[in-house]
Amino acid sequence: MILITGAAGFIGSHLCERLLISGYKIIGLDNLCDFYDIKLKRYNLELINAKSQRDNFIFIQDDILNVKSLESIFEKYKIDSIIHLAAMAGVRPSIENPVLYQKVNVQGTQNILECCKKFGIKKLIFASSSSIYGNNKKIPFSEEDKVDNPISPYAATKKAGELFCHTYHYLYDIDVACLRFFTVYGQRQRPDLAIHKFAKLISEGEKVPFYGNGTTARDYTFIDDITDGIEKCLDWLNSNENVFEIFNLGNNKPIELKELISLISQYLNTEIEIEKLPVPKGDVMLTYADITKANKYFGYNPKTAINGGLEKFFDWFDSYYKK
Ligand SMILES: NC(=O)c1ccc[n+]([C@@H]2O[C@H](COP(=O)([O-])OP(=O)(O)OC[C@H]3O[C@@H](n4cnc5c(N)ncnc54)[C@H](O)[C@@H]3O)[C@@H](O)[C@H]2O)c1
Repeated sequence: MILITGAAGFIGSHLCERLLISGYKIIGLDNLCDFYDIKLKRYNLELINAKSQRDNFIFIQDDILNVKSLESIFEKYKIDSIIHLAAMAGVRPSIENPVLYQKVNVQGTQNILECCKKFGIKKLIFASSSSIYGNNKKIPFSEEDKVDNPISPYAATKKAGELFCHTYHYLYDIDVACLRFFTVYGQRQRPDLAIHKFAKLISEGEKVPFYGNGTTARDYTFIDDITDGIEKCLDWLNSNENVFEIFNLGNNKPIELKELISLISQYLNTEIEIEKLPVPKGDVMLTYADITKANKYFGYNPKTAINGGLEKFFDWFDSYYKK
């Protein structure tokens, strides 16, 4: 049985659906926090339940900061591995609320690691982030690059999470893979992220923020490629012992903000009104994943080009908001 934390979220819910189809039994844990509209999280859970048979998916609404109830899950169920996705996500809100980010992302991750130690769980995947690279000058970003200069509290918490994972791996023989996700998008994407956020603003007749001169770029990675990478990584982790590794899961094709807006404009066949703003503090200028390592270790091979991914996103967006 796998414990997936953050199961009601964007990546977590897609991952649950995928792993249920592959035959896994899953405990999904999530506190359904109100970082964004909780209706979207409930809808995510409905979709997971539609894919599950009998007791293959058990949802528990709880908080990773609540050690007692976290432990009771491990006492009740026989958990073999954990995919730890629960977090306060997002760069800009972490600047507004750094203490909460530190608590959930660092203390919460350590609570999960303590459960691994206490209940003998030997396999853990930790959701890290491309933001950890800060304003790295060397491109594409490789797992070998130095990541000691985070520029947002969020990035610092993910770096701290990786460090704790390494410490517990070393002390307690827990096999760990830290996956650095690069701007994930697709159906049910988090509403605070570009694409979903822009789509919502356009549909409400509002202007889309245009930061700097539009040359900041993100390595947008489609959700199915990410969940495929996580599943492949899980297989790799389950067939190896004494391992601690960090992998980039990105697309290796960064897209500039001005290009993204132009693609959305073409796709919707409409002029997009923009509002010029300075690049927010904490935002990195570029993310660009070197994905050679994940490809070499477990055959990670993202297949979705931005046009196809945008089409799937907008099909979903229309059906979700017009229902
Ligand atoms: N989406 C991306 O582009 C991206 C990029 C890099 C890293 N990540 C990481 O991937 C993971 C999933 O991201 P996402 O985009 O699906 O975000 P999300 O916000 O949709 O999902 C996170 C889930 O964690 C839950 N959660 C938050 N605090 C909790 C707590 N204290 N206890 C239990 N559950 C809690 C939330 O309710 C939410 O459902 C996060 O760790 C995030 O930092 C995401």
